[in-house]
Amino acid sequence: MVTMLGLAVEGQLTPRVLELERRAQAEEEERAMLVFTGNSNPQLAREICGYLGIPLGRALVSTFKNEETRVRIEENVRGADVFVIQSTCSPVDHHIIELLLMIDALRRASADRVTAVIPYYGYAKQEKKTAGREPISAKLVANLITTAGADRVVAMDLHAAAIEGFFDIPVDHLRANPIMAEAFRRRHGDDRREDIVVVSPDSGGVARANDFRLRVGGRLAIIAKQRPQPDMAEVLEMVGDVRDRTAVIVDDMISTGGTLIEAADALLDRGAREVIACATHGIFAGDAIDLIERSRIKEVITTNTIPQPAGAPKIHSVSVAPLLAEAIQRIHRHESVSALFT
Ligand code: R5P
Repeated sequence: MVTMLGLAVEGQLTPRVLELERRAQAEEEERAMLVFTGNSNPQLAREICGYLGIPLGRALVSTFKNEETRVRIEENVRGADVFVIQSTCSPVDHHIIELLLMIDALRRASADRVTAVIPYYGYAKQEKKTAGREPISAKLVANLITTAGADRVVAMDLHAAAIEGFFDIPVDHLRANPIMAEAFRRRHGDDRREDIVVVSPDSGGVARANDFRLRVGGRLAIIAKQRPQPDMAEVLEMVGDVRDRTAVIVDDMISTGGTLIEAADALLDRGAREVIACATHGIFAGDAIDLIERSRIKEVITTNTIPQPAGAPKIHSVSVAPLLAEAIQRIHRHESVSALFT
């Protein structure tokens, strides 16, 4: 066997080669793991650090008086394996710039490896042109993150899996379905339930909804929706029998809440007993919370990839911190991340 130093074959290792290999391995194991965050979701970053058993890295991330973003890493990162946790949620552009400047600062401070951990990836819905003369914004953001100097990316429930391919660096794409299915079972009965119907609110989400169904039981229904104009959703048709069942809508995100509310009305009008929604990213743009609270939806389960508002009785948030911490630990130790989902 050729060694990692390419110097010897099995059975003929010289003490010198063995010593060099031992040292290389020890150095690798000792490489410090550091976690930093911008201002998008510091609570999640602190929770992740709690699971990892390390303090959050010290960094100044603020703005100058002229509104330019100001970043300074306030501890030594030379040779370290660094993770920057930053959801690119509202204010989206500002949080993207914070992330880019942090990566740049870490690179220039000689971090050995920089991983951008992006629990919620903004601009994901602009992953293709829907009309002429539009940008492919999700691709441009991927280019910016790579150009800033990220070595790898950790993301969660990207709106379209194709976004992974927008990066020419490794992407670990985590899924929230196991966490949300567990939360659903905890709140609505631990056993597999055959009296539910798991609903994809659009054709793009069928695989996600079916994966959820395999975890909780029940049947599958699919809604065909259209968007007559941006930020407006309309149910066209539905496939599947929902009568007398608890309908569980599974989606990647809730933005205006339009998709959810329209889908819930269509399900209840077709005889569903009640409607519960599970969506990874709770963006809740504009008055979405208010609309949902006043809607016929019974409950929404979401995660803390984006900080969640307090005082919304229908919204229940589960933490993705344990999953992200586990992924970070595995990446640091060069262990499989996909094994988390098998
Ligand atoms: C499909 O476009 C997505 O998976 C979500 O259904 C959508 O982004 C939700 O947006 P809104 O809440 O504004 O309808």
